[in-house]
Amino acid sequence: MNKSSAVSGFYKLSPQERLRFVREFSKLTDEEAKVLISMQALKLDDANRMIENVIGGITLPFGIATNFQIDGKDYLIPMAIEEPSVVAAASKAASMTRKKGGFKTAYTGSIMRAQIQVVECDVRKASKAIVKAKEEILRKAAGQSPTLTSLGGGPKDVKTRVLKTPSGSMLIAELYVDCKDAMGANAVNSMAEAVAPIIERVTGGTVLLRILSNLATERLATATATFAKGELGGAEIVDGIIQAYHFADFDQYRGTTHNKGIMNGIIAVGLATGQDTRALEAAAHSYASMSGRYRSLTSWKKNRDGDLVGSIKVPIAVGIVGGSASVNPIAKIGLKILGVKSAGELSKVMASVGLAQNLAALRALVGEGIQKGHMKLHARNIAVSAGAKGAEIDAVARIMIKEKVVKFARAKEILEGLGRK
Ligand code: MEV
Repeated sequence: MNKSSAVSGFYKLSPQERLRFVREFSKLTDEEAKVLISMQALKLDDANRMIENVIGGITLPFGIATNFQIDGKDYLIPMAIEEPSVVAAASKAASMTRKKGGFKTAYTGSIMRAQIQVVECDVRKASKAIVKAKEEILRKAAGQSPTLTSLGGGPKDVKTRVLKTPSGSMLIAELYVDCKDAMGANAVNSMAEAVAPIIERVTGGTVLLRILSNLATERLATATATFAKGELGGAEIVDGIIQAYHFADFDQYRGTTHNKGIMNGIIAVGLATGQDTRALEAAAHSYASMSGRYRSLTSWKKNRDGDLVGSIKVPIAVGIVGGSASVNPIAKIGLKILGVKSAGELSKVMASVGLAQNLAALRALVGEGIQKGHMKLHARNIAVSAGAKGAEIDAVARIMIKEKVVKFARAKEILEGLGRK
């Protein structure tokens, strides 16, 4: 039976009570629950094997966005992020579209491309030679990742492009690899390095770079969702959101911030599930400018009923096997909470969260602004930094919000006042 992720008042629970709900929903073990709540997931030895010169670790808040229904399935969404309001905003947007059927998604497949740069050659002859050697190149590449190949993935095609540059003409051979449920960077890079000698031999040129492209245009996730105008606050809000979208789509300064809001959602899920978030950022922003100008990753329009319909199309190269997802215990738990069965499913969830985030940001921006939503958590943070403890935190925050003065100095004064009583 499909469990419901629509939990009312989730935000009012204590972290322990929320964890109890998530444990039940996602069948977490005692050990997994303990790891989550300990906030000390990654062991020093594991961290020391992951990167160089390790001296410790850094922890981020790990929250759960509720209400998500994607292609008819309910999800609790793990999000790791330091910014207030993001988790609440995603949950709110998901609850609004839930009444209209939730998110509908698609995925193009997990194809990544490796680029092999060939210089000092006759580019036309070299291109023909590479096409002729295609089978040999694919065979060699497949040998680098027998498991992937046995699963039906692996290298699928080789194409070439000629670039005219200030360094002269160069040939770029591109190897297309189906990475299935892996993000694939390691496999793809190994393949690119392995086939380079064949490419040098057949072209007579010199191979320089052998590296995957993060612009994953063959790995696109799309999500669409409808939001009833009544839910959003009326026809004016719908029109305002469409105007806000056009602002972002036609102005790079606004578009960058608009897309940053989308990435708040995508990256938070990426961090909670152990993904290469720099790759996700690079791909998304580069894709946003593919048409020759930097554009919104989402689009918004009105349907015949006057409801708002949004969609997002974004490259999302993620994995559920290999990479840091297999080392970091928190990432494994994040994936278990989501219950995704493939990298494609994870990509579609992330695109939906990005769309939800964008809707929430635009609705707040055309309405009351974003500061009010931020204020409560911000005030509590300021209270803590001024030295408030336990019940004092909420007491100091409440006074600052009432006075509309959320400042460190005021928090100190209020604390002193509380102490004197
Ligand atoms: C803040 O992290 C994200 C927003 O700036 C996004 C936007 O402006 O659309 C609120």
